[in-house]
Amino acid sequence: MVRRVTIKKKQWFTDEIFGLEVHLPNLDLQPGQFFQVRTSTTYDPFLNRPISIASYKGGRLLLIIKVVGRGTKMLGQKKVGEDLQILGPFGKGLKLKKKKSLLIAGGIGVAPLLFLAQKMYGKRIEFDFVYGVKKEQALIKKSHISQIARHAIFVAEQGRSKMTVLGALDMLDIASYDIAYACGPTTMLIELQKLNLPIPVYAFCEDFLGCGCGLCLGCAIMYKGEYKRICEDGPVFELKGISFDE
Ligand SMILES: Cc1cc2nc3c(=O)[nH]c(=O)nc-3n(C[C@H](O)[C@H](O)[C@H](O)COP(=O)(O)OP(=O)(O)OC[C@H]3O[C@@H](n4cnc5c(N)ncnc54)[C@H](O)[C@@H]3O)c2cc1C
Ligand code: FES
Repeated sequence: MVRRVTIKKKQWFTDEIFGLEVHLPNLDLQPGQFFQVRTSTTYDPFLNRPISIASYKGGRLLLIIKVVGRGTKMLGQKKVGEDLQILGPFGKGLKLKKKKSLLIAGGIGVAPLLFLAQKMYGKRIEFDFVYGVKKEQALIKKSHISQIARHAIFVAEQGRSKMTVLGALDMLDIASYDIAYACGPTTMLIELQKLNLPIPVYAFCEDFLGCGCGLCLGCAIMYKGEYKRICEDGPVFELKGISFDE
């Protein structure tokens, strides 16, 4: 469904990560779902850009976006009061499990996990949050995460900790959790899969999307021996079932 919304608030968290807040009432949104955002009013760029729900409260939807290329740069130039065309929500929402959880975020992968954390906090599900980035300045929403997580660990490869998010997992007794959720670059998910953690891990997958709604098969991944569409069957899959083509 195409929705025309107005940007109510815009905030730069770092020099390349910003948030856009729009008013979109009465939706039942679930973690893992995303919107396809039009970056311009013309057909250039032609494809919409998939952006996760980072927060949804009182009808206010927050999208947190990292500028990586032309489309996200154009979104970063939008101003408060401007209209934004978004389609969705797309993707299968996660059904929350009342289990002791570990959230593992790498880079901008923190965006959908913030919404998962918001929902878990609302349902009083206990969770710890491990969040890693390359440069310390790229850590966003630290105080918010610290407030709602039972324990939060923040690391930066080029910061004081000199540690990757997966390195930080060594500080934890992973078997003490029932379930983990991870989102980050594919390289991080591949390395996480190799760690073979003793608990189920659910990965939020990202890829270039074409249609974003299950029609073009442009986002297919091999999952448990079958092709699945990230946009329609995912984007969240159990990590051990994913065959990454390295
Ligand atoms: C389901 C889903 C949810 C997403 N949620 C968010 C979010 O909440 N916030 C956010 O900032 N980004 C998110 N992304 C990634 C975002 O969609 C891309 O960064 C964006 O489409 C890039 O558009 P662009 O025109 O700026 O870059 P392009 O000009 O298309 O590409 C620039 C560079 O970014 C890389 N790139 C482009 N798209 C992706 C991608 N999907 N995954 C990895 N690398 C990519 C390219 O390899 C290239 O190096 C999500 C992607 C998916 C599939
Ligand atoms: S992007 Fe077209 S089927 Fe997923």
